[in-house]
Amino acid sequence: MQMYQVETYEEMSTKAADIIASHMILKPDSTLGLATGSTPVGTYQSLIEKTNKGTIDFSQITSFNLDEYVGLPTQNDQSYRYFMDDNLFNHVNIAESNINFLNGMAEDIEAECKRYENRIREVGGIDLQLLGLGHNGHIAFNEPSDRFEAETFMVELTQRTIEANTRFFASEEEVPRKALTMGIGTIMAARNILIIVSGAEKAEAVREVIQGPITPQVPASILQLHPSVIFIGDASACSLL
Ligand code: GLP
Repeated sequence: MQMYQVETYEEMSTKAADIIASHMILKPDSTLGLATGSTPVGTYQSLIEKTNKGTIDFSQITSFNLDEYVGLPTQNDQSYRYFMDDNLFNHVNIAESNINFLNGMAEDIEAECKRYENRIREVGGIDLQLLGLGHNGHIAFNEPSDRFEAETFMVELTQRTIEANTRFFASEEEVPRKALTMGIGTIMAARNILIIVSGAEKAEAVREVIQGPITPQVPASILQLHPSVIFIGDASACSLL
């Protein structure tokens, strides 16, 4: 794992955007795996600025997002699709037909998960997967568990994740209890991974992910086994390393 410890959220975001931009420049038809949450917002802002300056170009980029809530239509402003439109897609020249998202409203959930896995394979896999980190060490919506999930699946969110995500909803009752998410196997199949972490409330999880044993109880700990991972953490997230 290549580790970058930076001082601030802004530095983390700039560095992450620089790394994503270099991939896009080297391979203009890259397939990017994208993440939601508050952590990547600054990274997306920086990618928008680079697009406006003409440094990068999304016209040939394909994207796959990690996860989506079950039961929220894309028009709901708390759906992850809405978040991505708002924070990135509406501001760059990505083609709508190249945006791939899990459909949390699908009637046949199993078929929807299979469709997503097949689509990733059809395009030749993910070149660079961006990840944030949950307080409990989760990545995408892979919650602590007694096993690592191989493929895209439907997950029951833990109480801790529901509480962490309540800040985006009017009340805790409104937070969906289920989500569709890439599995750990799906994420590990990406050729390169970039994980960004900010804030003291993630410090314990960062320590476990980087220095602890590899266990499905800390899902991101499996990244220790991936051959090409870049970790960028700000000072407070790295304070227990
Ligand atoms: C959600 C998302 C994850 C994200 C995590 C942390 O659970 N499914 O992909 O990494 O939140 O979010 P934040 O960056 O807001 O702390």
